[in-house]
Amino acid sequence: MAIHSRQFLLAARPVGEPKPSDFRLETVELPSPAPGQLLVRNIVMSVDPYMRGRMSDTPSYAPSWLLGEPARGGAIGEVIEAGTPTDLGVPPIAPGTLVLHDAGWREHALVEAHQVTVIDPAPGTSLSYYLGTLGMPGLTAYTGLFHIADFRPGDTVFISGAAGAVGGVAGQLAKLRGASRVIGSAGSAEKVRFLTETLGFDAAFDYHAGPVGEQLRAAAPEGIDLFFDNVGGDHLEAAISSFRIGGRAALCGSISGYNATAPRPGPANISLLTGKRAMLKGFIVSDHWNLRQEFLDTAVPAVQDGRIQVPETVFDGLESAPHAFIGLLRGQNTGKMIVRLAAAGS
Ligand SMILES: NC(=O)c1ccc[n+]([C@@H]2O[C@H](COP(=O)([O-])OP(=O)(O)OC[C@H]3O[C@@H](n4cnc5c(N)ncnc54)[C@H](OP(=O)(O)O)[C@@H]3O)[C@@H](O)[C@H]2O)c1
Repeated sequence: MAIHSRQFLLAARPVGEPKPSDFRLETVELPSPAPGQLLVRNIVMSVDPYMRGRMSDTPSYAPSWLLGEPARGGAIGEVIEAGTPTDLGVPPIAPGTLVLHDAGWREHALVEAHQVTVIDPAPGTSLSYYLGTLGMPGLTAYTGLFHIADFRPGDTVFISGAAGAVGGVAGQLAKLRGASRVIGSAGSAEKVRFLTETLGFDAAFDYHAGPVGEQLRAAAPEGIDLFFDNVGGDHLEAAISSFRIGGRAALCGSISGYNATAPRPGPANISLLTGKRAMLKGFIVSDHWNLRQEFLDTAVPAVQDGRIQVPETVFDGLESAPHAFIGLLRGQNTGKMIVRLAAAGS
Protein backbone atom coordinates (compact mmCIF):
# COMPACT_ATOMS: atom_id res chain seq x y z
CA MET A 1 0.00 0.00 0.00
CA ALA A 2 1.33 3.49 -0.79
CA ILE A 3 0.97 6.09 1.98
CA HIS A 4 1.38 9.84 2.28
CA SER A 5 3.80 11.02 4.93
CA ARG A 6 5.55 14.22 6.06
CA GLN A 7 9.31 14.68 6.36
CA PHE A 8 11.80 17.49 6.96
CA LEU A 9 14.41 18.43 4.36
CA LEU A 10 17.54 20.50 4.84
CA ALA A 11 16.56 23.76 3.10
CA ALA A 12 19.70 25.83 3.85
CA ARG A 13 23.08 25.39 5.51
CA PRO A 14 23.11 27.57 8.65
CA VAL A 15 25.76 30.16 9.43
CA GLY A 16 26.02 30.34 13.22
CA GLU A 17 22.88 29.30 15.05
CA PRO A 18 20.39 27.24 12.97
CA LYS A 19 16.97 28.78 12.20
CA PRO A 20 13.60 27.08 11.63
CA SER A 21 13.81 28.23 7.97
CA ASP A 22 16.89 26.01 7.50
CA PHE A 23 14.36 23.14 7.47
CA ARG A 24 11.43 22.56 5.10
CA LEU A 25 8.46 20.25 5.67
CA GLU A 26 7.18 18.31 2.65
CA THR A 27 4.65 15.56 2.03
CA VAL A 28 5.76 12.54 0.02
CA GLU A 29 4.14 9.34 -1.17
CA LEU A 30 5.94 6.24 0.04
CA PRO A 31 5.54 3.00 -1.95
CA SER A 32 5.18 -0.45 -0.43
CA PRO A 33 8.52 -1.79 0.84
CA ALA A 34 10.72 -3.50 -1.74
CA PRO A 35 12.29 -6.89 -0.92
CA GLY A 36 14.53 -6.46 2.14
CA GLN A 37 12.82 -3.22 3.22
CA LEU A 38 10.44 -2.28 6.04
CA LEU A 39 7.84 0.48 6.15
CA VAL A 40 7.97 1.97 9.65
CA ARG A 41 5.57 4.36 11.40
CA ASN A 42 7.90 6.45 13.54
CA ILE A 43 6.79 6.92 17.18
CA VAL A 44 9.70 8.88 18.72
CA MET A 45 12.70 10.61 17.18
CA SER A 46 15.87 12.07 18.54
CA VAL A 47 17.46 15.48 18.05
CA ASP A 48 21.16 15.49 18.91
CA PRO A 49 24.00 18.04 18.93
CA TYR A 50 25.95 16.15 16.22
CA MET A 51 23.17 17.09 13.77
CA ARG A 52 24.54 20.64 13.82
CA GLY A 53 27.66 19.25 12.13
CA ARG A 54 25.55 17.34 9.60
CA MET A 55 23.88 20.60 8.56
CA SER A 56 27.29 21.95 7.46
CA ASP A 57 29.34 20.75 4.54
CA THR A 58 32.68 20.69 6.37
CA PRO A 59 34.08 17.14 6.53
CA SER A 60 33.26 15.33 9.78
CA TYR A 61 32.90 11.81 11.14
CA ALA A 62 29.15 11.92 10.33
CA PRO A 63 28.26 12.57 6.67
CA SER A 64 26.67 15.94 5.89
CA TRP A 65 22.98 16.08 5.08
CA LEU A 66 22.45 17.06 1.44
CA LEU A 67 20.57 20.24 0.57
CA GLY A 68 17.03 19.40 -0.52
CA GLU A 69 17.31 15.87 0.89
CA PRO A 70 15.55 14.53 4.02
CA ALA A 71 17.32 15.06 7.34
CA ARG A 72 18.30 11.85 9.15
CA GLY A 73 18.79 10.73 12.74
CA GLY A 74 17.79 8.18 15.33
CA ALA A 75 14.13 7.17 15.55
CA ILE A 76 12.07 4.27 16.85
CA GLY A 77 8.89 3.12 15.20
CA GLU A 78 6.59 0.22 14.49
CA VAL A 79 6.89 -1.86 11.34
CA ILE A 80 3.60 -1.56 9.47
CA GLU A 81 4.57 -3.46 6.32
CA ALA A 82 7.50 -5.76 5.57
CA GLY A 83 8.91 -6.45 2.11
CA THR A 84 9.80 -10.01 1.19
CA PRO A 85 12.76 -11.00 3.38
CA THR A 86 16.09 -11.27 1.55
CA ASP A 87 18.99 -13.51 2.37
CA LEU A 88 21.11 -10.98 4.33
CA GLY A 89 21.46 -13.07 7.44
CA VAL A 90 18.73 -11.30 9.46
CA PRO A 91 15.62 -13.10 10.67
CA PRO A 92 12.37 -11.85 9.07
CA ILE A 93 10.88 -8.84 10.90
CA ALA A 94 7.09 -8.96 11.18
CA PRO A 95 4.65 -6.05 11.19
CA GLY A 96 4.16 -4.83 14.77
CA THR A 97 7.86 -5.15 15.63
CA LEU A 98 9.48 -2.02 17.13
CA VAL A 99 12.74 -1.00 15.45
CA LEU A 100 15.47 1.61 15.98
CA HIS A 101 16.87 3.10 12.77
CA ASP A 102 18.50 6.20 11.25
CA ALA A 103 15.55 7.65 9.30
CA GLY A 104 14.15 10.15 11.79
CA TRP A 105 12.79 13.62 10.94
CA ARG A 106 9.81 11.97 9.19
CA GLU A 107 6.53 10.35 10.15
CA HIS A 108 7.07 7.16 8.14
CA ALA A 109 10.31 5.66 6.89
CA LEU A 110 11.34 3.04 4.37
CA VAL A 111 14.39 1.34 5.87
CA GLU A 112 16.59 -1.64 5.07
CA ALA A 113 15.72 -4.53 7.39
CA HIS A 114 19.37 -5.51 7.87
CA GLN A 115 20.19 -1.99 9.16
CA VAL A 116 17.63 -1.75 11.99
CA THR A 117 17.90 -2.80 15.63
CA VAL A 118 14.85 -4.54 17.09
CA ILE A 119 13.76 -2.91 20.35
CA ASP A 120 11.93 -4.97 22.95
CA PRO A 121 11.49 -2.52 25.84
CA ALA A 122 12.34 -4.10 29.20
CA PRO A 123 9.59 -3.96 31.86
CA GLY A 124 9.52 -0.52 33.48
CA THR A 125 11.15 1.21 30.50
CA SER A 126 9.62 3.39 27.78
CA LEU A 127 10.40 3.40 24.09
CA SER A 128 11.98 6.86 24.23
CA TYR A 129 14.54 5.63 26.79
CA TYR A 130 16.17 3.69 23.91
CA LEU A 131 16.99 7.02 22.22
CA GLY A 132 18.45 8.46 25.42
CA THR A 133 19.54 6.87 28.68
CA LEU A 134 19.36 3.32 27.26
CA GLY A 135 20.33 4.36 23.74
CA MET A 136 23.18 6.10 21.94
CA PRO A 137 23.72 8.87 24.57
CA GLY A 138 23.76 6.36 27.44
CA LEU A 139 26.23 4.14 25.59
CA THR A 140 28.35 7.23 24.94
CA ALA A 141 28.49 7.98 28.67
CA TYR A 142 29.37 4.36 29.48
CA THR A 143 32.05 4.13 26.78
CA GLY A 144 33.66 7.44 27.68
CA LEU A 145 33.86 6.71 31.39
CA PHE A 146 34.84 3.06 31.42
CA HIS A 147 36.61 2.42 28.11
CA ILE A 148 38.19 5.78 27.25
CA ALA A 149 38.93 7.65 30.50
CA ASP A 150 39.69 4.49 32.49
CA PHE A 151 37.38 5.31 35.43
CA ARG A 152 38.60 4.02 38.81
CA PRO A 153 36.53 3.73 42.01
CA GLY A 154 37.48 6.63 44.28
CA ASP A 155 37.99 9.03 41.36
CA THR A 156 36.89 12.64 41.65
CA VAL A 157 34.95 13.17 38.42
CA PHE A 158 33.99 16.41 36.67
CA ILE A 159 31.30 16.33 33.96
CA SER A 160 30.53 19.31 31.71
CA GLY A 161 27.10 19.59 30.13
CA ALA A 162 25.99 17.47 33.07
CA ALA A 163 22.22 18.06 32.87
CA GLY A 164 22.00 16.81 29.28
CA ALA A 165 21.44 13.33 27.87
CA VAL A 166 25.04 12.08 27.93
CA GLY A 167 26.22 14.09 30.95
CA GLY A 168 23.36 13.02 33.23
CA VAL A 169 24.01 9.33 32.58
CA ALA A 170 27.78 9.77 32.94
CA GLY A 171 27.37 11.35 36.38
CA GLN A 172 24.95 8.71 37.61
CA LEU A 173 27.12 5.84 36.32
CA ALA A 174 30.19 7.34 37.99
CA LYS A 175 28.33 7.48 41.33
CA LEU A 176 27.05 3.91 40.89
CA ARG A 177 30.56 2.59 40.25
CA GLY A 178 32.08 4.28 43.32
CA ALA A 179 33.36 7.73 42.39
CA SER A 180 34.36 9.56 45.56
CA ARG A 181 32.93 12.84 44.28
CA VAL A 182 31.02 13.81 41.12
CA ILE A 183 30.82 17.46 40.07
CA GLY A 184 28.73 18.77 37.20
CA SER A 185 28.41 22.05 35.32
CA ALA A 186 25.22 23.21 33.62
CA GLY A 187 23.63 26.35 32.26
CA SER A 188 21.14 27.45 34.94
CA ALA A 189 20.53 27.47 38.68
CA GLU A 190 17.53 25.19 38.12
CA LYS A 191 19.70 22.61 36.34
CA VAL A 192 22.30 22.86 39.13
CA ARG A 193 19.59 22.02 41.70
CA PHE A 194 18.38 19.17 39.51
CA LEU A 195 21.90 17.68 39.39
CA THR A 196 22.38 17.65 43.14
CA GLU A 197 18.80 17.02 44.28
CA THR A 198 17.61 14.52 41.64
CA LEU A 199 20.62 12.94 39.93
CA GLY A 200 22.77 12.62 43.08
CA PHE A 201 25.76 14.75 42.03
CA ASP A 202 27.87 15.81 45.02
CA ALA A 203 28.30 19.36 43.70
CA ALA A 204 27.34 21.40 40.68
CA PHE A 205 27.70 24.96 39.37
CA ASP A 206 26.18 27.23 36.73
CA TYR A 207 28.92 28.08 34.22
CA HIS A 208 27.27 31.48 33.63
CA ALA A 209 27.68 32.41 37.32
CA GLY A 210 31.45 32.98 37.25
CA PRO A 211 34.70 31.74 35.67
CA VAL A 212 34.57 27.96 35.21
CA GLY A 213 38.10 27.53 36.58
CA GLU A 214 37.25 29.30 39.85
CA GLN A 215 33.97 27.44 40.30
CA LEU A 216 35.62 24.08 39.62
CA ARG A 217 38.43 24.80 42.10
CA ALA A 218 35.83 25.69 44.74
CA ALA A 219 33.87 22.48 44.09
CA ALA A 220 36.98 20.24 43.96
CA PRO A 221 39.70 21.92 46.04
CA GLU A 222 41.81 18.74 45.98
CA GLY A 223 41.62 18.53 42.18
CA ILE A 224 39.97 16.07 39.79
CA ASP A 225 41.04 12.68 38.41
CA LEU A 226 38.63 12.30 35.49
CA PHE A 227 36.98 14.83 33.18
CA PHE A 228 34.07 13.85 30.90
CA ASP A 229 33.88 16.75 28.46
CA ASN A 230 30.74 17.58 26.49
CA VAL A 231 31.46 21.30 26.17
CA GLY A 232 35.14 22.14 25.41
CA GLY A 233 36.49 25.72 25.53
CA ASP A 234 36.77 27.18 29.02
CA HIS A 235 35.56 23.91 30.57
CA LEU A 236 38.48 21.96 29.09
CA GLU A 237 40.97 24.60 30.17
CA ALA A 238 39.55 24.58 33.72
CA ALA A 239 39.72 20.78 33.91
CA ILE A 240 43.38 20.73 32.80
CA SER A 241 44.23 23.24 35.54
CA SER A 242 42.37 21.13 38.12
CA PHE A 243 43.85 17.78 37.07
CA ARG A 244 45.73 15.84 39.69
CA ILE A 245 48.78 13.84 38.59
CA GLY A 246 47.55 11.19 36.13
CA GLY A 247 44.35 13.06 35.21
CA ARG A 248 42.30 11.50 32.38
CA ALA A 249 39.76 13.12 30.07
CA ALA A 250 37.24 11.59 27.67
CA LEU A 251 36.67 14.25 25.00
CA CYS A 252 33.07 13.47 24.08
CA GLY A 253 32.03 16.77 22.48
CA SER A 254 32.65 20.50 22.45
CA ILE A 255 29.20 22.01 22.06
CA SER A 256 30.37 25.47 23.10
CA GLY A 257 31.89 25.76 19.61
CA TYR A 258 29.31 24.06 17.38
CA ASN A 259 27.79 27.34 16.13
CA ALA A 260 31.18 29.11 15.87
CA THR A 261 31.89 30.76 12.53
CA ALA A 262 35.71 30.82 12.94
CA PRO A 263 38.23 28.37 14.45
CA ARG A 264 38.54 28.71 18.23
CA PRO A 265 41.83 28.66 20.15
CA GLY A 266 42.74 25.53 22.11
CA PRO A 267 43.35 25.52 25.88
CA ALA A 268 46.09 28.02 26.79
CA ASN A 269 47.35 25.71 29.57
CA ILE A 270 47.86 22.56 27.46
CA SER A 271 51.53 22.37 28.50
CA LEU A 272 50.40 21.45 32.04
CA LEU A 273 49.52 17.98 30.70
CA THR A 274 53.19 16.99 30.66
CA GLY A 275 53.97 17.56 34.34
CA LYS A 276 50.61 16.16 35.36
CA ARG A 277 51.21 13.03 33.20
CA ALA A 278 47.64 13.63 32.03
CA MET A 279 45.75 12.21 29.08
CA LEU A 280 43.08 13.68 26.79
CA LYS A 281 41.38 11.17 24.49
CA GLY A 282 38.61 11.72 21.95
CA PHE A 283 36.15 9.00 20.93
CA ILE A 284 33.07 8.40 18.78
CA VAL A 285 30.41 6.07 20.13
CA SER A 286 29.72 4.44 16.77
CA ASP A 287 33.14 2.74 17.04
CA HIS A 288 31.93 1.02 20.23
CA TRP A 289 28.55 -0.60 19.42
CA ASN A 290 30.12 -3.89 20.57
CA LEU A 291 29.75 -2.54 24.14
CA ARG A 292 25.96 -2.13 23.79
CA GLN A 293 24.95 -5.38 25.54
CA GLU A 294 27.52 -4.89 28.36
CA PHE A 295 26.13 -1.36 28.82
CA LEU A 296 22.48 -2.50 28.84
CA ASP A 297 23.29 -5.23 31.38
CA THR A 298 24.41 -2.44 33.73
CA ALA A 299 21.93 0.28 32.84
CA VAL A 300 18.58 -1.52 32.45
CA PRO A 301 18.43 -2.93 36.04
CA ALA A 302 19.61 0.44 37.39
CA VAL A 303 16.83 2.23 35.52
CA GLN A 304 14.27 -0.35 36.63
CA ASP A 305 15.08 0.04 40.32
CA GLY A 306 15.52 3.82 40.19
CA ARG A 307 19.28 4.02 40.73
CA ILE A 308 19.46 5.77 37.36
CA GLN A 309 16.89 8.50 36.72
CA VAL A 310 15.71 9.12 33.15
CA PRO A 311 14.97 12.83 32.66
CA GLU A 312 13.47 13.81 29.30
CA THR A 313 12.23 16.98 27.64
CA VAL A 314 9.53 16.11 25.11
CA PHE A 315 8.25 18.09 22.12
CA ASP A 316 5.11 16.84 20.37
CA GLY A 317 4.55 16.42 16.64
CA LEU A 318 6.91 16.33 13.68
CA GLU A 319 6.40 20.04 12.99
CA SER A 320 8.05 20.80 16.39
CA ALA A 321 11.30 18.99 15.48
CA PRO A 322 13.30 22.07 14.29
CA HIS A 323 12.27 23.93 17.46
CA ALA A 324 13.32 20.96 19.61
CA PHE A 325 16.68 20.85 17.82
CA ILE A 326 17.34 24.60 18.10
CA GLY A 327 16.14 24.48 21.73
CA LEU A 328 18.62 21.67 22.45
CA LEU A 329 21.51 23.82 21.24
CA ARG A 330 20.21 26.65 23.47
CA GLY A 331 19.95 24.44 26.56
CA GLN A 332 16.15 24.23 26.71
CA ASN A 333 16.36 20.53 27.58
CA THR A 334 16.93 18.77 30.87
CA GLY A 335 17.97 15.21 30.08
CA LYS A 336 17.28 13.78 26.64
CA MET A 337 15.49 15.95 24.08
CA ILE A 338 12.82 13.80 22.41
CA VAL A 339 10.24 14.50 19.70
CA ARG A 340 7.11 12.35 20.03
CA LEU A 341 5.59 11.68 16.61
CA ALA A 342 2.78 9.26 17.40
CA ALA A 343 1.33 7.26 20.23
CA ALA A 344 2.74 3.74 20.60
CA GLY A 345 0.25 1.16 19.35
CA SER A 346 -2.13 3.71 17.75
N1 LIG B 1 31.59 11.36 20.98
C1 LIG B 1 30.41 10.83 20.70
O1 LIG B 1 30.29 9.74 20.13
C2 LIG B 1 29.17 11.58 21.14
C3 LIG B 1 27.90 10.95 21.16
C4 LIG B 1 26.80 11.69 21.64
C5 LIG B 1 26.97 13.00 22.04
N2 LIG B 1 28.20 13.57 21.95
C6 LIG B 1 28.44 14.94 22.42
O2 LIG B 1 28.09 14.99 23.79
C7 LIG B 1 27.64 16.28 24.13
C8 LIG B 1 26.29 16.19 24.80
O3 LIG B 1 25.36 15.63 23.89
P1 LIG B 1 23.87 15.32 24.37
O4 LIG B 1 23.22 14.54 23.32
O5 LIG B 1 23.92 14.79 25.75
O6 LIG B 1 23.24 16.77 24.38
P2 LIG B 1 22.59 17.47 25.66
O7 LIG B 1 23.68 17.67 26.65
O8 LIG B 1 21.36 16.75 26.05
O9 LIG B 1 22.13 18.87 25.05
C9 LIG B 1 23.04 19.84 24.72
C10 LIG B 1 23.34 20.73 25.93
O10 LIG B 1 24.50 21.48 25.67
C11 LIG B 1 24.50 22.60 26.51
N3 LIG B 1 25.10 23.75 25.83
C12 LIG B 1 24.67 24.39 24.72
N4 LIG B 1 25.51 25.40 24.41
C13 LIG B 1 26.47 25.41 25.37
C14 LIG B 1 27.61 26.24 25.62
N5 LIG B 1 27.95 27.25 24.80
N6 LIG B 1 28.37 25.96 26.70
C15 LIG B 1 28.05 24.94 27.53
N7 LIG B 1 26.98 24.12 27.35
C16 LIG B 1 26.22 24.36 26.27
C17 LIG B 1 23.04 22.90 26.88
O11 LIG B 1 22.90 22.73 28.29
P3 LIG B 1 23.19 23.94 29.33
O12 LIG B 1 21.85 24.49 29.69
O13 LIG B 1 23.87 23.26 30.44
O14 LIG B 1 24.02 24.96 28.63
C18 LIG B 1 22.26 21.79 26.18
O15 LIG B 1 21.20 21.30 26.94
C19 LIG B 1 27.66 17.08 22.84
O16 LIG B 1 28.88 17.78 22.76
C20 LIG B 1 27.60 16.02 21.78
O17 LIG B 1 28.12 16.45 20.54
C21 LIG B 1 29.29 12.89 21.52
